[in-house]
Amino acid sequence: MEKGEEKTLFLPSQEVVNQANVKEYDQLYLYSLDQPEAFWAEQAEQLSWYKKWDKVLDKSDPPFFKWFEGAKTNIILNAIDRHQSSATRNKLAVIWEGEPGDSRTYSYHALNREVSQFANILKSMGVKKGDVVTIYMPQIPEQLFAMLACAKIGAAHSVVYGGFSHEALADRINDANSRVVITADGGYRRGKVVEMKSVVNKAMELSPTMEICITVKRTGIDVYMENDRDYWYHDLKSLPIASSKCETEVMDSSDMLFLLYTSGSTGKPKALVHTHGGYSVYTASTHKMVFDIKPEDRYWCAADPGWITGHSYIVYGPLINGSTIMLYEGAPNHPYPDRWWKMVEKYGINILYTSPTAIRGLMRFGDSWPNRNDISSLRLLGSVGEPINAEAWNWFHKVVGRGKCPIMDTWWQTETGGFVIAPLPITPLKPGSATKPFFGNDLAVVDDAGKEVPNGEEGTLVIKTPWPGMAKSVFNDPQRFIETYWEKYKKQGWYHTGDSAKKDEDGYFWIIGRNDDVIKVSGYRLGSAEIEGVMARHPAIAESAAIALPHNLKGNAIHITAVLRSNYKPSKELEHELMVHMEEHLGKIARPEAIQFADVLPKTRSGKIMRRLLKSRALGLPDGDLSTMEE
Ligand code: WTA
Repeated sequence: MEKGEEKTLFLPSQEVVNQANVKEYDQLYLYSLDQPEAFWAEQAEQLSWYKKWDKVLDKSDPPFFKWFEGAKTNIILNAIDRHQSSATRNKLAVIWEGEPGDSRTYSYHALNREVSQFANILKSMGVKKGDVVTIYMPQIPEQLFAMLACAKIGAAHSVVYGGFSHEALADRINDANSRVVITADGGYRRGKVVEMKSVVNKAMELSPTMEICITVKRTGIDVYMENDRDYWYHDLKSLPIASSKCETEVMDSSDMLFLLYTSGSTGKPKALVHTHGGYSVYTASTHKMVFDIKPEDRYWCAADPGWITGHSYIVYGPLINGSTIMLYEGAPNHPYPDRWWKMVEKYGINILYTSPTAIRGLMRFGDSWPNRNDISSLRLLGSVGEPINAEAWNWFHKVVGRGKCPIMDTWWQTETGGFVIAPLPITPLKPGSATKPFFGNDLAVVDDAGKEVPNGEEGTLVIKTPWPGMAKSVFNDPQRFIETYWEKYKKQGWYHTGDSAKKDEDGYFWIIGRNDDVIKVSGYRLGSAEIEGVMARHPAIAESAAIALPHNLKGNAIHITAVLRSNYKPSKELEHELMVHMEEHLGKIARPEAIQFADVLPKTRSGKIMRRLLKSRALGLPDGDLSTMEE
C-alpha cells in the first residue's frame, strides 16, 4: 500500500444503498455483540429445521463450542430440499462451463435428482453416516453432486485439491481412514488433460483403508480400472440402485458435515471439522448480507471447490440462499485472457468473487480484454485469500467494476467457516482493508500478553467470541485444536488467528499476513512443515527451511534454504531437480521460486529452525532478537 492511499474512501452509490439487504451496520453490530444468541437465533429462524434448538450456544466445554444444541437438521434440507416445494424448484441452481466450451445447467429440481442418485450409489457401496468419503476431482458438476450426496446421507466429505500429488492425497486418505474415493479420469486445464484417476491409483497403493473408487468419465483418456475396486460412475448411475428418490438423513446440529485438510506451522496437515447446523447458518447469512444476494442473481465464486472458499461460497452458502451459481472448469486465460469476461457476458453474471492473485494475473493482460466484452451485468465484486494491493484493487474496481461495483474484501480462514471481517455493500471502502467485523464477531489486535495495541500498530488478530461457522475441532485430534488456536490466549479464551493485523482510527482492519509458518502462495495455503517434509524425501537433502517472500503475481512465493548431505554438491541442475521433486511429490503450487544452499540452518538452542531470521535476512531487514539462537 502506498503512503496516503489508506485515506482514500470509496463511498457506495445511492443505487447500491437503496437496494442493500442490510441498510445499517453500527446498530446491528452492537446488538449482535450485546445479544449474540438472540442475533444468531434470528438468523437461524430464516432456515428450515427438522427440530429447532434447545440452546443457541452451549459454552460448557470451551473451546469446543456447540451451536444450536438439540436441533435436528441436515445442510441438504436447506441447500436442496426446501427449494423443491417452492418456485425455486425450476430455477437454475448450477450453470457450468467446461474449459473446452461444453456447458451444462441444472435446475434445483435436477440438482435434487442428481444428488439423490449419487447418494443412493454411495449407500449401495456401504457408505453410511459418520464415514469419510474422499473427493479428488476436476471442477465439474459431479464434484458438487458428490459433496452434496455425502452430506445428504450423513457421511463427511474430505475434498482434496486436484492439484495435489498422489502422496499428499494418500496422506489425507490415511489420516481420515477413508474407504471410498470419488474421482474423474481427468479434467481440462490450459487446453490439456490433467490426469486424475492415475494419481488416485497411485495414492490407493499407499492407502490400506481404501476399498472403492468411483470414477466419472470426463475426458475419455485411458485409465486403469481394477475389478471389484473401480467403478465407472455412469455404469452405477444406470443401475436400479441409483434411484432418484433418497431420504435426507436427519443429523444433530453439531454432527460432522465435512473435513478439510489445511496446513499449519507444525506436523502434517490437519483436518478441520465443520458441522451441519452452525455452518449452515453462518455461510447462509454471511453470503446473503455481504454479497447482497437477490433471488434473480447469477453469482460466480471463481475459487476451486477443493478449498474452503469453494465449500462455503460456491456450494453451501449460495445453495442455501437459492442462488444460481456459476462453475467453470479451467484456466482464466484459456484460450484468451478474456475467457472470464466472455462468460460474465454470456451468462449475465451479477457477482464475481475471486482472489487478488487471479486479479493480478488478468490485470497484466491490460484493459482491452475486459473492455471488449459487455460485463455491465456485474453489480458486486469480491476478493479473498490474501491482502489485496492497491493497484489490483483499483484495476478491479475501475476496469472490471467500471467504477460502480463495491469490492467485498473478505477476511476469513478454513477454521472460521465463513467471513469474519468483511464490508457490506453500504460500507465505505478503503482499498486493501477488509473493513469491519461481520456481525457477532468481537475482534482485537493484541500483543503477546493479550493487551490491545494502539491503533495503527501491528499486532496479532484474535477473535474474542464464538461464532456459528467455527470449526468444531481437528479430526481425531482435539488436543491439536486446543494447542494451535486456543493455547496462546488461554487465559482470555480467545481464538488465535495466526495473522498479523492493524486497526486504524476508524475501526477498519488491515491484514498484514501470517505471523506463523503458514505460506499463502497465490492465495493457496501450504505449511512450511509439509513443504520441508517433502523436501526431506529427496536423497540429497539433509534438512531444509521453507519461507514465504513477496512475489508480484502470487502475493507470496516459496523460498527454500537447503542443507545437502555430504556426498552432494550445490548446482543449478540439483536446484532444478529439487523443484521438479516438489512439483511431483506435493503439487505444482508447491514448486519453490528459488532454492538456496547453505551449510547450516539458523536454529534456536532447543533446535527449532529460525525461519523468521531467514526471512528478515532475505528481505534485508534487521535480525531482531537473537538471544535464543544456538552458538
Ligand atoms: C489469508 C481462505 C488478507 C489470511 C479463506 C488467513 C486474507 C488465511 C484474506 C486463511 C483477506 C484470507 N485479506 N488475508 N481478505 N482472506 N486471508 O484457510 O492470512 O485458505 O489467515 O482460507 O488467508 O487461508 P485459508
